[in-house]
Amino acid sequence: MVTLSVNGVPRTIPIEPRVSLLDALRDRLDLTGTKKGCNQGACGACTVWVDKRRVLACLTLAITCEMREITTIEGLAVGGEPHPMQTAFVELDAFQCGYCTPGQIMSAVAFLAEGHPRDDSGIGEWMSGNLCRCAAYPNIRAAIRRVRDASLDGSGDATG
Ligand code: FES
Ligand code: FES
Repeated sequence: MVTLSVNGVPRTIPIEPRVSLLDALRDRLDLTGTKKGCNQGACGACTVWVDKRRVLACLTLAITCEMREITTIEGLAVGGEPHPMQTAFVELDAFQCGYCTPGQIMSAVAFLAEGHPRDDSGIGEWMSGNLCRCAAYPNIRAAIRRVRDASLDGSGDATG
């Protein structure tokens, strides 16, 4: 048995040591917002936070996350209101098929909180682990810039 705290809710599940955090979230906890793309650490579709740091859930064993706080895309909204990054992605059309989008959003919010350069080159570098096969990159960057700029002028919350 392993107890995982996901989006603030402790969940105890029977799990084998070999099970990835991604499979635990999707197949055992029915949290299917986190996507499985490559399942080998190359695409970023499975990005979640563990103790507020972004990780690739496909390369993380679920048992290593006991006693740590896991946040998925389902836990990003606050009080029923979407996170500003979610709103920006929708309003700026930052997706096509949407498969990469949960990982992009989890990574983008963490990126703005991590203290990296927030200019376009910083966005390109520190979001490079999140691939978009629909090539929605210009709109993804526009969404991140909007949240970044809102946080700079105090009118928005960049980091959730
Ligand atoms: Fe984890 Fe692609 S599914 S990096
Ligand atoms: Fe289709 Fe990114 S929106 S993979």
